Amino acid sequence: MFWDCNLNSTKDNFVVVEFFPLSIGTVSDAEIACGGQCVSCETWQNERRVLRKKHLKDVHLQQVSVRRFASFNLFSIEDQNTEEETGTWVQYRSIFYPKYSVSLRFHNGLLNVKDVLTSFDNTGNVCLWPSEEVLAYYCLKHNEIFRDLAVCELGGGMTCLAGLMVAISADVKEVLLTDGNEKAIKNVNEIITRNQNAGVFKAQKVSSCILRWDNETDVSQLEGHFDIVMCADCLFLDQYRASLVDAIKRLLQPSGKAMVFAPLRGNTLNQFCNLAEKAGFSIQRHENYDEHISNFHSKLKNEEKDTYEENLHYPFLLILTKQR
Ligand SMILES: C[S@@+](CC[C@H](N)C(=O)[O-])C[C@H]1O[C@@H](n2cnc3c(N)ncnc32)[C@H](O)[C@@H]1O
Repeated sequence: MFWDCNLNSTKDNFVVVEFFPLSIGTVSDAEIACGGQCVSCETWQNERRVLRKKHLKDVHLQQVSVRRFASFNLFSIEDQNTEEETGTWVQYRSIFYPKYSVSLRFHNGLLNVKDVLTSFDNTGNVCLWPSEEVLAYYCLKHNEIFRDLAVCELGGGMTCLAGLMVAISADVKEVLLTDGNEKAIKNVNEIITRNQNAGVFKAQKVSSCILRWDNETDVSQLEGHFDIVMCADCLFLDQYRASLVDAIKRLLQPSGKAMVFAPLRGNTLNQFCNLAEKAGFSIQRHENYDEHISNFHSKLKNEEKDTYEENLHYPFLLILTKQR
């Protein structure tokens, strides 16, 4: 079993579902790892059905709380003591490049059950996933590659941390932060405003929008616009994998490149590579792309056997280049 979940009904009909990602894995992990086919996912589907029924009875006070995930020790988090109804502001600082930090707002760990059950994929509102942090770190480390370029992050979740790191550290022309989830992008808009007011951006233009890979209008209006498209942990959704490949291809200008970080998650990374090759990309696949990450990965494998699962947590790096 990858995960466990507690369904608690209080006297106020307050339903709290708690997932335990750190020690046992997350619901998302379980679903992601197997594409929804395993026993855990069946159980999750059943829980969803239970929730849906409960939800119909009582729509107000149902929330899902989700705990934070293990990481590669790349960023420090300082509380800014500004808690809002929707979330908490923190200062996210690179441990390796400490002059770079941004204000981020995390949803307060509580997701409305209505959102979870009825809205578009919410995995980007649950937490900031390790692949995103690794992509963000990698962008800081190699920020010279973005000079004068137009960069787009796809599926950046509620923070789009990697795109923000490009925007604060690189002499980049333009950074567009995107996700298909409306709630995530509302949060990203506020993050941009706060950091813009703090004057931290080096980029000439930083903006955000809802961009769904499977939405013709979203993709066509930005066709051929970007030199670099990047994403983290976006390869697991069976129904959107082909549209992600297609969106990357169309958004990139002819000599553009995509930078993709994602864990294996079963066969999902391989399936993405197969589709990308069929779409005319050449792919460089890197398992060891950074000394710190490789060393930390070995340490986690040895010392955190109960919590660290390579298949779910270790991001590979894929560089996609358009061939035709
Ligand atoms: C596992 S989350 C990763 C979020 C973020 N990159 C991170 O690693 O923290 C996957 C993200 O892909 C987004 N997503 C899923 N399907 C999508 C689609 N068809 N179009 C656009 N975004 C999508 C979700 O909204 C979510 O934010």
